Amino acid sequence: MIQKPKGTFDILPEEIPYWQFIEQKARKVSRRFGFREIRTPVFEATELFQRGVGNTTDVVQKEMYTFEDRDGRSLTLRPEGTAGIARAIIENGKCGDAMPLKLFYFINCFRYEKPQAGRSREFWQFGTEMYGAETPEADAEVISLAHSLLKEIGLTEITLHINSIGCPNCRPTYRAALKSYFEANKEPLCDTCKGRLETNPMRILDCKSPICKEIAKNAPKTFEHLCADCSAHMDALCANLNALNIPYEIDPNIVRGLDYYTRTVFEFITPVIGAQSTVCGGGRYDGLVKEIGGPNLSGIGFAMGITRLILALEATGKLPATDYETDLYIASMGKDAAKAALTIAGAVRDADLRCESDLVSRSLKAQMKYADKKGARFTLILGDNELLSGKANLKNMKTSEQTEVDIRNIPALLSLIR
Ligand code: HAM
Repeated sequence: MIQKPKGTFDILPEEIPYWQFIEQKARKVSRRFGFREIRTPVFEATELFQRGVGNTTDVVQKEMYTFEDRDGRSLTLRPEGTAGIARAIIENGKCGDAMPLKLFYFINCFRYEKPQAGRSREFWQFGTEMYGAETPEADAEVISLAHSLLKEIGLTEITLHINSIGCPNCRPTYRAALKSYFEANKEPLCDTCKGRLETNPMRILDCKSPICKEIAKNAPKTFEHLCADCSAHMDALCANLNALNIPYEIDPNIVRGLDYYTRTVFEFITPVIGAQSTVCGGGRYDGLVKEIGGPNLSGIGFAMGITRLILALEATGKLPATDYETDLYIASMGKDAAKAALTIAGAVRDADLRCESDLVSRSLKAQMKYADKKGARFTLILGDNELLSGKANLKNMKTSEQTEVDIRNIPALLSLIR
């Protein structure tokens, strides 16, 4: 028996309504904010992620699914959406469009991580990206979109954490301060963080190891090292969030795992789904478009993990009710009746109602059992007598009430099942 690859999952028909619920809400909320959908390839040139996401990140160093195609090109299954979309807007001349350019997407992503609840190797994101707006109002708007969606799907047990990680002007000073702090406390750090000390000391701040966490508590904070512009940006963002009535916590440990971020970073965290508690992560990335060969165009966005949203809705009893019903099941006895059932089913479906008939020549008893399993609201039984007389009994499965109907009078039948 061939099994699915480790860290992947099937989304079964009974779960699909939850996915569709989130997708529909996300499309609706995105539309309200003026965002339009974009779709980009599932694989990209490896170099895009090396340059965009950053060579020193865990994602690029340890987690990418990279392969050579038959022509020897190095390609990578996208570990996230932001770099591919930045590439797409440059390549398609969208950097000259009316700004801000506002995009959203649903994508599957691939990261070679240790699977656990809420963390898989193939996972799905809903994300948004906004280009060409550098103001703190743009930051507030993007955060507000995420907040509206979480509210709209009913996820209330959630906290917004925000931070500023500075810009290329002030980050080197902060990095140096962090480095000397961790150098002085190097011994107890985990091996991964010892390595991060050289390559990316900021990543030590969100290490999950309890010892590293303890040491990180007293580390220098980003906002103590922000330049005047970054500081003013952060203050204005806070004022905007207050004006929008969006509660937040300033959390100096939010540093995010991807290199492209500048200034604002944020996460929505829920206590209800265990260790993988970040349902949404995002931030500003004003240098990314230029870094991968485009003009100097600012960007800000976020992505939400759809599995984590579903887990959180499940944990708080907020999953929407699912509806597997069929409106009418037509049971038939004999070939002629089966043919008549097909014709009636066609007419019922043309009226946008859900209808099924017997396709496997089962006994009447077995057909009724199937109708019951499919949650049929009504059944109609057709045999030789019904075909001859043109009259059949329509049964309301909930009340057991039976009504004689003229099977040639489709509008009358429809009016009874509507
Ligand atoms: P990220 O924090 O790497 O950011 O991922 C965003 C969200 O995707 C996470 O908060 C989480 O909900 C979900 N996620 C990440 N990895 C996994 C996984 N292995 N299994 C299940 N869910 C996962 C980004 O990807 C950025 N591109 C977000 C962004 C957009 N920043 C600016 N624009």
